[in-house]
Order: sequence, then C-alpha cells, then structure tokens
Amino acid sequence: MNRRNLLHAAACATAGLMAGLRPAFAADAEIEISPQAAGPVISPHIYGHFIEHLGAVIYDGIWVGRDSRIPNLDGIRRRFVDDMKRIGAPNFRWPGGCFADGYHWRDGIGRGARPRTYNYWQRSMPPGLDHTETNQFGIHEFIRLCRLTGAEPYLAANVGSGSPQEFHDWVLYCNAPANTASLAAERAANGDREPFGVKWWGVGNESWGCGGDMSPHEYATLYRRFVTQFPAYPPRPYLVAVGPRGHSRDLDLGWTTGFFEAMQGHHTVVDGLSMHYYTDFRNSKEKVATFDARGWYDVIREGLHTESVIEQHWAAMGKYDLARRTRLIVDEWGVWYPPGEETAPGHLLSQPLTLRDALHTAVTFDVFNRHADKVAMANVAQTINCIHSLFLAQGDRYMRTPVYYVFEMYKGHMGARSVPLRISAGELSVPVSSGSAKIHALSGSASLKDGRLLVTLTNPSLDSPVTARIRLTAGNAAEARGSVLTHADMTARNTFDQPDNVRLAPLPVSTKDGTVEVGIPKHAVASIEVRVS
Ligand code: AHR
Repeated sequence: MNRRNLLHAAACATAGLMAGLRPAFAADAEIEISPQAAGPVISPHIYGHFIEHLGAVIYDGIWVGRDSRIPNLDGIRRRFVDDMKRIGAPNFRWPGGCFADGYHWRDGIGRGARPRTYNYWQRSMPPGLDHTETNQFGIHEFIRLCRLTGAEPYLAANVGSGSPQEFHDWVLYCNAPANTASLAAERAANGDREPFGVKWWGVGNESWGCGGDMSPHEYATLYRRFVTQFPAYPPRPYLVAVGPRGHSRDLDLGWTTGFFEAMQGHHTVVDGLSMHYYTDFRNSKEKVATFDARGWYDVIREGLHTESVIEQHWAAMGKYDLARRTRLIVDEWGVWYPPGEETAPGHLLSQPLTLRDALHTAVTFDVFNRHADKVAMANVAQTINCIHSLFLAQGDRYMRTPVYYVFEMYKGHMGARSVPLRISAGELSVPVSSGSAKIHALSGSASLKDGRLLVTLTNPSLDSPVTARIRLTAGNAAEARGSVLTHADMTARNTFDQPDNVRLAPLPVSTKDGTVEVGIPKHAVASIEVRVS
C-alpha cells in the first residue's frame, strides 16, 4: 500500500467515527527500533488497579450483592470480572487510599451481620447522602474478586490509626497455612481454608497527609516498627513504603530523601517506594467533558511530565540506595478534574472521561514502559466510578470509558522486554493555558516477547495525521497488524446510551522490505504488533 492509500485507510479505519475527516496535511515520522537491545522486563504490575471504599467504586461499582438481579459472581458484578479478565488485570490495590488508614480489617469478616463503621469519605459526600461503611465487602470478598479475575491482591495496611499488632494479625489471617495459627482457623471458619497468599503490602497510605500528617522521619520510625516483626509465612512479602508528599508536579523530593536518610544504618527492607502522581486539575477551571485545544494539550502535557517526576525521584533514591534495592510503585495515577461533573449523586469523584483521557493513559504507559528498570508497579486511580476510570456503572447500567481500550491495546507489553526506540518526528507548538508549549509530535514505547514486537504510539496533534515508518536495526518485520483508538470529535466519550461511541478499530499497516509503514490519524493512539523474522 502506498503512503496516500495508507493515510486514507487510516481515516477509513474509523469509518463512521471519523466520517468526513480528511487529513489536512501529514507529518512524517521515522522510528528506529533495536530488538537486539531489548532491556528489562516490563512488570505486568505496571498495568495494575486501585479500588477504594470511596463513593461508588465498591458499592454500586464492583459489589452488587449476592441477591442482586444484576448478573454477578458471589456478589461481584459479572461484567466487571469479564472485562478485568479480558485485559489481564495483574493486581488490585485495596482498601484505600485514605480509607485504608481508618480501616480495621476485622470489621469486614464474619458470616453474620457486620458492623457499620465510619468511612473517611463521608466528609466529602453531598449533604443528606450517607456513606456509612457497611463492611459487606471485606477481605474474603476482595480475595474472591482477585481469584475470579486472576489478579494479585495488594493490601494497604492501616498505619494512621492502626497498630503493628493489628497489621501482623491481618498478615496472619491472610497468609498463615491452615491448621497453624488460630487466625488461620478463623479464616477457615469464615469460608477460606486455603491461605490468601498476599505478597504485596503497602505500609500506610499518604502518611504525610490523610494517613497521619507525619514527617518522613516519623514515618520511617513507624515503617520499621510495622515491618520488623512481619510474620514470615509464604510468599516472601514485597513491602512498599509511603513515598513523596504531594499529588502532582509538586511531589516532594524532601520526603524521598528524608525517608531514605532516616533509614540509613537500619537493615529494614524497603522493596518499593510508593508515589502518587495525578494530572491534577482540581484547582483549575478545566472541565472533564467540554474543552478546547488548550485543555486538550494541557492534559497530554501533564501526562508526559510523569517521565521527569520518575527520573527526579529515582535519582534522589539512588544517592542512598546504591544497590538499587528499592523500586518505584506509582500506586495512584490519573487525571483528576475539579468537582461538578460527577456521573451520579454520591458517585464521589466520578468523571465522564473522554478520548483526551485515553491519550493521557497511553503516554503515561509509554513512560512506564520506557522506565521498566525503575517502575515495578502502577495502579490506575481508580478502576471504576472514580477519577481515571476504565468503567462507569450505576445499578444495572455499565460501560467502558475510552481509557479501558488503552489497557486492551497495551496488554501485550505486560511481561515483555522493553525495547529502545528512537522516534524522529519533531515537536508540535501547541496552545496551553499558560500560553504555548512544545510537545513531542509522536511518543511511544516498544517491547518484545516471543519474537513479537509491540509498538504503541500516540499522535496528540489535533490537526494532522502522521505517517510513521518503523525500521528495525536487527531482524526483519515479517508481518504486522494494528489497531487504533480515535474519534472525529476530540471530546468524544461513551455513555450508557452510546456505550460504543469510542472504541477500537483495526488500523491498516503495510510491511515492505522489512520496514513497517503506518498512517496514524490525528488525536489517536495506535498499537502495532510486528512479527520479527
Ligand atoms: O484516589 C483518591 C485519593 O487520592 C486516595 O484515597 C488518596 O490516597 C489520594 O489522595
């Protein structure tokens, strides 16, 4: 297929979605990929999830109840389970977030009535709406969700209002083999004889804020107390300490260095350092569903900024952690808009996400993939009905947002080896709220698994498609196929009435003389799978 046909085909690929679209002009991009230099494995856990007892994430989102008429598996929404399996969800972080530091795990066990307790997020609920925690969804229900979907549990322990004893008891309850500790017998009496085998443990959440308003030195002392006597049942735990204060650009390097400083001379293990990085527009006039070019580029640019935040904190950690024992765990990330466009009353922090948020997801994942040596896990905040969601649900209504499709397009990166790629596409001068800025005309990442190369590319331009030529520095591109996520309207989103307005479409790709050529429409994410011979 020649270049003109490719561009035309790219436009037609989204026929119906992109009716009437004709590229004004096309930019060119040369991409050089070096499969022979494949580097670190991209941890599958980078594609992880975060679900908190907040608004309608659990109740009305994941949990519909065993007696519900909504199709469910032991009370868990069936469509959610199916979609999580489809994208190969590697983990769920639970029960918070800020909720975790007020959560007492014993409230959520037992076959009889469970206590009704205070939920941290009650303070943010609209007047008159109750957010009392019913504890219907506790550790057994959470583990059931993990087992149904094949995901691993990642638990956030209560450091803010809990004790090392309560933490250790929870570890025992989860991991002690049957017929050992009394807590294992209690677990069996509650329905699960076999241990839960929880490996991932977060020791507190945002201990600099809602998790206790501590200094890094105060937290480091508590961290050591919490983990020193960690009960040594299998599996070997992966312990995650609370990382830098802040949510966005302002992430505090002082916390990162302060924490490591306070750990000097101690032998306590720190496997991961948590980092929460939101594209945080809460203090702006930005809207979720209606925006102009400036708003579009503001969001994409902030997503790209994730890279320098990772690099800065990684460099700071390296001054203390010479052996590079500790890796980054970005266990909350996403675009967070100001309140006012929630999808239903009481669905706190829910947002009607658009194509813009899907492109933000893609550039973020590309950053994580390119830094596979540094980032061991990342968890989107949050999977359903909250902030950067893949799904919205209300009663029996359920839909995928455009963000979901990026997880589907990128799943081939999970467990593959990160491959260096050099993109020569130049920069775009774009309008942003502070005036104008330059951003990469094309960004992406590549990985290799079983002789298959996956190349994911984002064209953020609102004006022009890109013709990309992908050349391998070793081996040949024997065959290739692609898919694309875009829409004629940059503000396009899915609704319960139009759940497929934004969806994946095939993307025509040609291979000639070992080179791949592909036309990427404007404001689109493309994924290209190449068999290397
Ligand atoms: O994801 C919402 C909240 O954001 C989490 O509970 C908290 O950890 C962060 O501040």
